[in-house]
Parts: sequence; structure tokens; C-alpha cells
Amino acid sequence: MSEPQAANGVEAKPRVTIVVPTYKEVESLPHLIERVAKVRAESGLDITMLIMDDDSGDGSVEMIAARPETWVRIVVRTTDRGLSQAVLEGARCARGEYLVCMDADLSHPPEVLPAMLAKLNDGADFVLGSRYVSGGTTSHDWGFLRWANSRVATLLATPLTSVRDPMSGFFALRRSTFELGKDFNPVGYKIALELIVKCRCERVVEIPIHFEDRRSGKSKLTFRQQVLYLQHLRRLYTFKYGAWTQLMQFIVVGGMGTIVNLAALSVLLALAVPQRPAIALAIFVAMWFNFVVNRRFSFSTTRHRPWLRQSVAFVAASSIGAFINYATTLFVVVHVSWLRLQVAALIGVAVGTLFNFTASRYLVFRVSHIRAP
Ligand code: GDD
Ligand code: MN
Repeated sequence: MSEPQAANGVEAKPRVTIVVPTYKEVESLPHLIERVAKVRAESGLDITMLIMDDDSGDGSVEMIAARPETWVRIVVRTTDRGLSQAVLEGARCARGEYLVCMDADLSHPPEVLPAMLAKLNDGADFVLGSRYVSGGTTSHDWGFLRWANSRVATLLATPLTSVRDPMSGFFALRRSTFELGKDFNPVGYKIALELIVKCRCERVVEIPIHFEDRRSGKSKLTFRQQVLYLQHLRRLYTFKYGAWTQLMQFIVVGGMGTIVNLAALSVLLALAVPQRPAIALAIFVAMWFNFVVNRRFSFSTTRHRPWLRQSVAFVAASSIGAFINYATTLFVVVHVSWLRLQVAALIGVAVGTLFNFTASRYLVFRVSHIRAP
């Protein structure tokens, strides 16, 4: 690794800050510090460790104070708690030229740190310790459910980054890269994903690690974290793809609305409602469903505005959309007579949906910016 020259001509050691978010990790921390100390001694890197503790009250502070290592510091956080928030705050306090983030529970091997920094020096923007590249291994004996869960979570992140293990919490980047990032608003656990997207990292490199299951303490990954992950994904998609994300959500809601329409129709017919009013009522129910769900998700930026006016505008716009759908289908049928009727209808649906989306975005749920964090 090439080492930067200090002003006086003496070789300056690269300064590295390891940010370690912790919550009740008093048992693991001494082992982590010892392993990092060894890496520090062997590599000659100027490593500082910044433990960002969310007020665990488990004796971590006293334990660190009693230790001889002056390069280890603990910060107790009492507001804006959370893993990602702790990491971001740590990164902002860090003074090193390189930032590393790792868990306290010894799941992440500090021994690969020099290799990570070498990748950064080779031109990578972001280096991930990865379980899923060749050479990477895990010691978790996850049941099928947890395994499937992790795979689905990874799959959902593919529009954001093509790395194999975007769920990893072990990574390194230059502080200057971190400082390029703005509008951080992570929720939950996936801080690496947040940084890759928001700092617009292009060259993301993975190096294989052996992921060791924690020996002491408990995992803090709960069901709640998984719900938060979906919310986080939505924010990242919006950041990266803007209006396209809204369109995608709008289309998904439209698909669900179609199912609601058919279900409502079946129920009404089963209740012996005559056919024509049943058809009309089912359409109305589906429009309401679409309105409520779009207001909550696709256009959540204007959720605080009065809903009554929005709903009337939405139903009106959708009705015009339905007419445009009808007119387009007829137009295609007349002018492209060799096309199957179903294909013409599909084109009608597409044009009608685009109209509905545009009207929703620019009239019904009008707002020109994305909600601030
Ligand atoms: N400051 C702070 N605040 N730290 C926290 C919090 C919090 O609210 N919650 C968890 N931590 C710390 C833990 O003390 C630990 O050092 C680290 O964050 C990871 O938490 P674990 O509870 O060990 O998470 P995990 O093992 O389930 O998840 C790990 O593996 C995942 C992939 O399977 C983490 O590395 C995740 O980031 C990763 O996605
Ligand atoms: Mn863990």
C-alpha cells in the first residue's frame, strides 16, 4: 500500500477510524479490541476505534475507561438511537482518512482490514466484507425461513447495487467519499446500502469474509427491523430513480386495485346485487382502494394535505383515465385492424394508466419535491 508523505518528509501512516455501533456488547468488546490491537501492531496502520454506544448501561463505558488502549474511544448516545444513526454520527466525528464500520460481536474479522484498505487504494469507492462471494463463508446455521428472508432482502436491493452481499454491515470507504453523501435518512440496519446509494459509489468491491455467529449477547435484528428495511428501500429507490419509483408503485397499486375490483364484484354478485350496479360499485370500491394506497405510498409526500379534495380529484381523474383507455382502445382497433382486440385493450390500459399517473402526480397529489428527512 502506498503511504502518503507527511509535510516533513517522514512517512505518515494512513489513519483509519473504525466505527463500531454497539448496544449491550460489554462481553464482546474486549475480544474485539484485542483482535484489532493485533492487526494494528502487525500492519502498522494508525487505527483509532470509535465505539458508538446507544447508552447500553451495561458497564461498557467503565470497561473502556479501565483499559490501557488510548486509541479506543467510546461515545454514549442518548438521542436519535439506532444502528444506522450511530454509524453516521461516528463517521461524522471520525478524523481518519479511511472509515471502516464493523459489528462488535466478532462476526466480522478485523484481520481483513489491510486488504480492504488496499482495495480502496486500488481505486475502489467502497469495499464490502462479503459472505456471498467466492471464498466467503458463514457459520450461521440459519433455518430455511431466515435464509429465504435474507435472499429476498438481497434481491430487493438489486436495483440499487449489484453486489452479492448488500446486507453486510462490514465495510470501508474513504472519508472524502462519505463527505460526498447528502440527504442521509436511513431507517433500520442497512447502513452500507444507504452509503453506497447516497454517496453514489460506483466501484463497489467485495472481499470474502468468514462471518462468525456471535458468541455472547443477543442479535438485535427483529421483525421490526425487517419492516423498516422495506421503508428504507422505498426511500433509496426514490432517491435513485425519482418519479420512476412513483410510477412503479402506482402500477403495483393498479394491479392490486384490479384484484380488489374483481373481489368486490364477486362479493356484490353473491349478495344478489344486480349486475349493472354491482359492476359500477366494484369499480368505485377499486378507485377508493387505489386512492387510499397511492396516498399512503406512491405519493406519501402529500399525506398531510386534506384527503377529501384529493379523493374527489382522484376519482375524477381516474374517470377521465377510464375514458381515455376506452377511446385509445377504439382508436387502435380502427386504425390497426390486424391487431388482436386484447392487445388493443392492453394499449388502452397503458395509455390510461399513464394519464392517471400524470394527473395524480401533477394535479391530485401535487408537490414538486421529495419529503425532507
Ligand atoms: N448504537 C447502536 N444502536 N448499535 C446497535 C443497535 C442500536 O440500536 N442495534 C444493534 N447495534 C449494534 C450491535 O451491538 C452490533 O455491534 C451491531 O450493531 C450489529 O447488531 P447485531 O444485533 O449483531 O445484528 P445481526 O448480527 O443480526 O446483523 C448483522 O448481520 C447482518 C447480516 O446478516 C449486522 O452486521 C447487520 O448490519 C447485517 O445486515
Ligand atoms: Mn451480529
